[in-house]
Amino acid sequence: MRKPAPIPRFEPVFLFYSPDAPLNLTMLIPLLDPNIQPLERAAAALRAGKLVAFPTETVYGLGADAFNPLALAQVFAVKQRPHFDPLIVHVGERDWLVKLCRDIPPIAERLMDRFWPGPLTLVLPKLPAVPDLATSGLASVAVRMPSHPVALELIRLAGCPVAAPSANPFGRLSPTRAEHVQAAFSEGIEYIVDGGPCEVGVESTVLSLTGEIPFLLRAGGVSLEALEAVMGPVQKAGSALVPEAPGQLAHHYMPRTPMELVPMGNPPPIPVGRCGYLAFRTKPSDAGFAQVEVLSPSGNLTEAAAELFSALHRLDRAGLERVYAEAVPPQGLGLAIMDRLQKASHG
Ligand code: TXA
Ligand code: MG
Repeated sequence: MRKPAPIPRFEPVFLFYSPDAPLNLTMLIPLLDPNIQPLERAAAALRAGKLVAFPTETVYGLGADAFNPLALAQVFAVKQRPHFDPLIVHVGERDWLVKLCRDIPPIAERLMDRFWPGPLTLVLPKLPAVPDLATSGLASVAVRMPSHPVALELIRLAGCPVAAPSANPFGRLSPTRAEHVQAAFSEGIEYIVDGGPCEVGVESTVLSLTGEIPFLLRAGGVSLEALEAVMGPVQKAGSALVPEAPGQLAHHYMPRTPMELVPMGNPPPIPVGRCGYLAFRTKPSDAGFAQVEVLSPSGNLTEAAAELFSALHRLDRAGLERVYAEAVPPQGLGLAIMDRLQKASHG
């Protein structure tokens, strides 16, 4: 048994979501019973089979008790997510894994030592007790321990593993702020716990450890370089050795506004109509853009990742006809940013 990591102090803002009332940010409710802490209410809702949106260090998740098939079905329904796309199960302690997976290889332990809690998801052989809805009927389950103090506290209070996809309608932009979640759903979620903007800003790295060789299923918050420093070369998608990842569709993370990926420093010569530009570090010299967002003026890819979805949400709300997104260097978190930009592009 490991000692639980100390939980830093935090002050979550608690949003109450009711299907009977219109939604807006003024629906912050003062707690009726001062003896019940906000997160305990949210944890009780999870235990009761309700859905709770909560912050993680990567993006906001839409959580449900991973062992409650009805609650899991509700996650798929609220997100309009196809059932072939499996969920990530979040644990509050490492020893909860004994309820979820078997044959945990030594490399998994080393990776957990180094990166947990944090934005690394490991796909491991599952135990029969894990509902098929969580794993889309696969023989494996994806697990991660988030590092966000609100997420950790919520999951530990709930006392059950929490299955949580990103809290956005299927295929759409991921939420990195509570208001992104609130804007995207009108019912089906009991509580949205507001923990402020997500620090990492892109989803967790997903690594499969079910086969002979480990392979990367999704680039994310732990860079490939950081992974390889611990475990040596990692196979990536595209390699003949790597099977298709479930749920990894060519189009995903899509804004409503058509988006086009352009090479770095190469904005379209004359944007036609009201266009937006997502720049990596410098504004385009052409003033013809109706709205420009710069991800990181200092050219820092970690900072750029943290800003990515917020900037895309702002561009998507600006009533533009088209958004051009500039490519970033595919190093460090740049690999995850490029994956999101490619999938967000409308071709
Ligand atoms: O950072 C994150 O990972 C966020 C936060 C909330 O933790 N969650 C997240 O979940 O991004 P979601 O549902 O948007 O992405 C989960 C992806 C699936 O689409 C699939 O690609 C992969 O994880 N996955 C889950 N279970 C798997 C399995 N058994 N085998 C292979 N891939 C799996
Ligand atoms: Mg997602």
